[in-house]
Amino acid sequence: MKFQDKEHLYGNNNNKKQIIPKIILIAIFVIIIVLVTPLSYPLFGSSVLLIRTKSKAPNSNIDLIEQETLPSTSLKECDIFNGEWVPNPKAPYYTNKTCWAIHEHQNCMKYGRPDSDFMKWRWKPNECELPIFNPFQFLEIVRGKTLAFVGDSVGRNHMQSLICLLSRVEWPIDVSYTKDDYFMRWRYPSYNFTMAFFWSPFLVKAKQENSDGPTHTGLYNIHLDEFDHKWTSQIEGFDYVIINGGHWFFKPMVFFEKGKIVGCHYCLLENVTDLTMYYGYRKAFKTALQALNSLENYKGVTFLRTFAPSHFENGLWNEGGNCLRTKPFKSSETRLESTNMELYMIQLEEYKIAQKKAKKNGLKKVRLFDTTQAMLLRPDGHPSRYGHLPNENVTLYNDCVHWCLPGPIDTWNDFLLEMLKTERVKFKGEKKPQIV
Ligand SMILES: *[C@@H]1O[C@H](CO)[C@@H](O)[C@H](O)[C@H]1NC(C)=O
Ligand SMILES: *[C@@H]1O[C@H](CO)[C@@H](O)[C@H](O)[C@H]1NC(C)=O
Ligand SMILES: *[C@@H]1O[C@H](CO)[C@@H](O)[C@H](O)[C@H]1NC(C)=O
Ligand SMILES: *[C@@H]1O[C@H](CO)[C@@H](O)[C@H](O)[C@H]1NC(C)=O
Repeated sequence: MKFQDKEHLYGNNNNKKQIIPKIILIAIFVIIIVLVTPLSYPLFGSSVLLIRTKSKAPNSNIDLIEQETLPSTSLKECDIFNGEWVPNPKAPYYTNKTCWAIHEHQNCMKYGRPDSDFMKWRWKPNECELPIFNPFQFLEIVRGKTLAFVGDSVGRNHMQSLICLLSRVEWPIDVSYTKDDYFMRWRYPSYNFTMAFFWSPFLVKAKQENSDGPTHTGLYNIHLDEFDHKWTSQIEGFDYVIINGGHWFFKPMVFFEKGKIVGCHYCLLENVTDLTMYYGYRKAFKTALQALNSLENYKGVTFLRTFAPSHFENGLWNEGGNCLRTKPFKSSETRLESTNMELYMIQLEEYKIAQKKAKKNGLKKVRLFDTTQAMLLRPDGHPSRYGHLPNENVTLYNDCVHWCLPGPIDTWNDFLLEMLKTERVKFKGEKKPQIV
């Protein structure tokens, strides 16, 4: 494991010297496995991969990736999203000095956050290891591909973490087709990898009706059965789409279906039934996933990145609530409940429905990017009051919604890489490779 960790930290460039001993190790491993467990199907599957790997040119990057894909085979039985945070003294892997992509309001060190231990954890799944993000490996896997983030500012927060983690290999160039930073597009020239962000906090067609509203955070008209064309018209060519949503559904909203008002969430309008935020949330995810399932030329993998809970304590966001903890929870110290639980369960249900439809359809894939439990355990990862100058007049003074960078959501990219590796294994499995 140590051996592998090192590889993950330093990437392929440093691997060359290690190739020969590694192949010998692998060969020994294969022999042992073949001798000891000839009939164990999953292990047999992985040894087939090993043999195929060995027969290729030992120095190609692809080769290294295929070797590193191996642990994923056994991960099939390991739920990588179920685990604990454990100390990682080697983190973080970038700083606000090495990465310009950190959003101003998530640059916690710049605004004087006094503690730094919140950056020094990694996620340990209960039944396996989750390797630390390897930017070289990631870029090899996504070579010639496209990845889109669709959702709210937490989705953008995630993309900025990815840019920072990849910066050890390459900086992207800005190829946005608008100046609007809600629709950014980045290209990694050496890898022909393109990454885009589509701002769509409600995931469906929505319009701000009133900038004030009952809670002074705006009142929104949400068309629950209509696609948000700002992203659905652009998404077909993408290979991977990560969708997310949640925090905006706490705002007052009026729900429309078939162009008519059907109800609302905390709109306080006469004769309009309050259907709760959950009603709108469920339908919005349903429609967004339907959009992806119905687009004829979309053949990508959709990842539904599940809700990342906020951590206001001693009051709501607008009542002086704050997040002052400096350490993660252990899973025994807290649990998912009430609103967080409800939002998560709705995503799970809509994911299952969409996955079934995608399977029938054949060409599309839907996966659960299940960050909820891990993030529930990170009350220490938010900017709190260190997302702006002390005297600045901002709506969310204590930000317990977004995540400091570097910080716990860097782990989302550990998850992402692991899922992309698993996709490759699945893809191979589907193609039934020739047994060597
Ligand atoms: C980075 O953080 C340090 C404090 O650790 C701060 O002094 C500096 O201004 C920040 N730099 C940038 C570019 O954000
Ligand atoms: C870059 O990738 C895109 C797909 O994302 C592909 O259409 C294009 O041909 C590639 N360009 C080169 C130069 O490989
Ligand atoms: C609400 O409904 C009542 C009874 O149908 C009606 O008299 C009233 O005018 C309605 N109010 C509005 C604002 O539509
Ligand atoms: C903060 O800004 C809002 C709107 O921009 C304004 O209504 C409010 O009075 C300001 N508060 C302070 C303390 O300056």
